Amino acid sequence: MAWSAHGGGPAAARRMSPRGGSPYTIGIEGEALAEYQKKYITEMKTGDKIDSVLSVHYKKSPSEYRNGVMFEFRVADRTGQITVKFWGGEDAEEVAKMHSSISRDSVVRVRGTVGEYRGQMEIAINPADGEGFSLLSEGDFELTDLIEKRKDIDESVAKMRELIGSIEDQYLRALLDRVFGDEAFMKRFSECPASIMLHSNEIGGLIHHTMNVADHCLIAWKQYGEMDRDLLLAGALLHDIGKVESFRVTTNINQTEEGIFLGHLIIGMTMAQKAIDSIEGFPKDKRNKLLHILLSHHGRKEWGSPVEPAIPEALTIHYADDFDAKLEYMLIRREEATTDDSWLWDTRFRRHIYLG
Ligand SMILES: [Fe+2]
Ligand SMILES: [Fe+2]
Repeated sequence: MAWSAHGGGPAAARRMSPRGGSPYTIGIEGEALAEYQKKYITEMKTGDKIDSVLSVHYKKSPSEYRNGVMFEFRVADRTGQITVKFWGGEDAEEVAKMHSSISRDSVVRVRGTVGEYRGQMEIAINPADGEGFSLLSEGDFELTDLIEKRKDIDESVAKMRELIGSIEDQYLRALLDRVFGDEAFMKRFSECPASIMLHSNEIGGLIHHTMNVADHCLIAWKQYGEMDRDLLLAGALLHDIGKVESFRVTTNINQTEEGIFLGHLIIGMTMAQKAIDSIEGFPKDKRNKLLHILLSHHGRKEWGSPVEPAIPEALTIHYADDFDAKLEYMLIRREEATTDDSWLWDTRFRRHIYLG
């Protein structure tokens, strides 16, 4: 980790304070500095003095308080999110300068003290005590401190290639080869997260989720052999390809404009359609069924699918997708729960989750 004692190196210090030496840049020296330790968000406890690298999600405008001007911003690392409150002094211009030094996706090194407000943990930065924050440039931090990266990406890629190799239908095989045989696309696909907040929000989350969906589908096929294995498998592997164009991974996972405007179902269907149309003689019936699977995989119109599953393969993919997303989410919520209570009320799930 390339951190200097004053945080962010000379470039960041210059950027933050053109006059050299803002009273608000990190200024703790000597023994007091040793108290401040690098901690990930989920490791932080009330009273901790932290010195951590965090990425900015959003910031709020400065406002006045008893001792001057303050502002808050929301930050994240690979373990979670937390609010930071910067308690500046009376020099509103200096506080404004600090405020404008950061924006969404900025990476900052924060020295502050962990506290609690209305039951939520937060970090307070008190410049009067020598605490502060500074902007970091690329190369001053590790992206993997900010976003989790799965360690099994290579295995998933190998497994995916094996599954593609097992497809006998010449047209579906040609389609998968066309989509996933493109090395640049495969790299983006294998490093794409599966979601921002819900399940598999980590680099490599999408291929992990895709492999799970494919596995569940194959189990179902063993039980219900009348389904078309090749169509089921091709649909499972392709169902979320639109996410590659829907997410942008920087220091945060964000949605692209295309993702927000169109959604990954339509984007994915358009990508598949383009690939299908470049394959000569691709049967129309297969084309319709495959595109139908991509469009119907959310299962219901109110869940974002313009059409609802009309063939067994589409129904199976929808349930496999929903099952994996929800199960993974519940397991993560249980693992990450910080309450001493045996029950957790989950607002997204709108149900209780038992932690015992
Ligand atoms: Fe999806
Ligand atoms: Fe999915």
